[in-house]
Amino acid sequence: MSNGRWAFSASLSDKESQLTMPWEKELAVAREAAQAAGAILNRLFGRVNLVTKKGRIDLVTEADVQAEKAILDIIATHFPRDSILTEEAGEQRHLPERVWHIDPLDGTTNFAHAFPVFAVSIALEVEKEVVLGIVYNPYADELFEAVTGMGAFLNKNRIRVSRVSQLDEALLATGFPYDIHQRPRRVLAPFEKLILLAQGVRRPGSAAIDLCYVAAGSFDGFWEPGLKPWDTAAGSIIVSEAGGRLSTYGGEAFTPYQRTIVASNVHIHDALRNAVNSALDGEPPVV
Ligand code: IPD
Ligand code: CA
Ligand code: CA
Repeated sequence: MSNGRWAFSASLSDKESQLTMPWEKELAVAREAAQAAGAILNRLFGRVNLVTKKGRIDLVTEADVQAEKAILDIIATHFPRDSILTEEAGEQRHLPERVWHIDPLDGTTNFAHAFPVFAVSIALEVEKEVVLGIVYNPYADELFEAVTGMGAFLNKNRIRVSRVSQLDEALLATGFPYDIHQRPRRVLAPFEKLILLAQGVRRPGSAAIDLCYVAAGSFDGFWEPGLKPWDTAAGSIIVSEAGGRLSTYGGEAFTPYQRTIVASNVHIHDALRNAVNSALDGEPPVV
């Protein structure tokens, strides 16, 4: 068994990290915004009073709203012409070629129950390509980041996906969308199948963290239907820069606008995708 988080620990020295990087200013602003939001989340963790419902099990707390405002203020100050797509405030359309995808609190249900698995997720898409992603888990102080072509990092240490090559040796993660009650089989059938095929399946409750843990080699693969661009944009570039592979359930190249995702190391990708699809055989297509 190999765990990419610990197997490869080359780090960015202070000198290297001062070199000019592509998207350097954007990365610095995204990092500042993620840390500002993370400080708000840590301050409110365990003491959230105001919980409203967007759907039967889809919550919004004051933490989502305050963290999102902090991020929007910082990004709009530095890049007032960029478009921004966030979970709670919606879309601010400006330059169509530069779009920020922001989830101020990924893992709201966990947060509302004081279960400490949640993150801030920020990505920038330029001309339809995600060029940078940051996922910050403030409770554990884990800052995951990736810039296109530059690798993926956890607290400035390089991370890589695992080398596990068989499903029965794999630790997988998945998530359940909020509309699960409408079509439970599209979620439960793959879960039932993979929990028997894999070494283990976890459901941590934050898709952004799930993806980063694939990138770091703790999880060998992840799948979920129904995610939104702000859930996956940052995590997807972190997985691909860590050497992982991403696709839709149907095998198309993954973009944050797709509604299904399979993310894993290259070795188990086909087996994981095939298992998900064979479990869904006979189910209406997942859209
Ligand atoms: C949710 C989390 C969860 C996933 C849901 C997402 P939220 O995001 O990522 O793990 O299973 O599908 O909607 O609502 O906590 O930001
Ligand atoms: Ca989310
Ligand atoms: Ca959210």
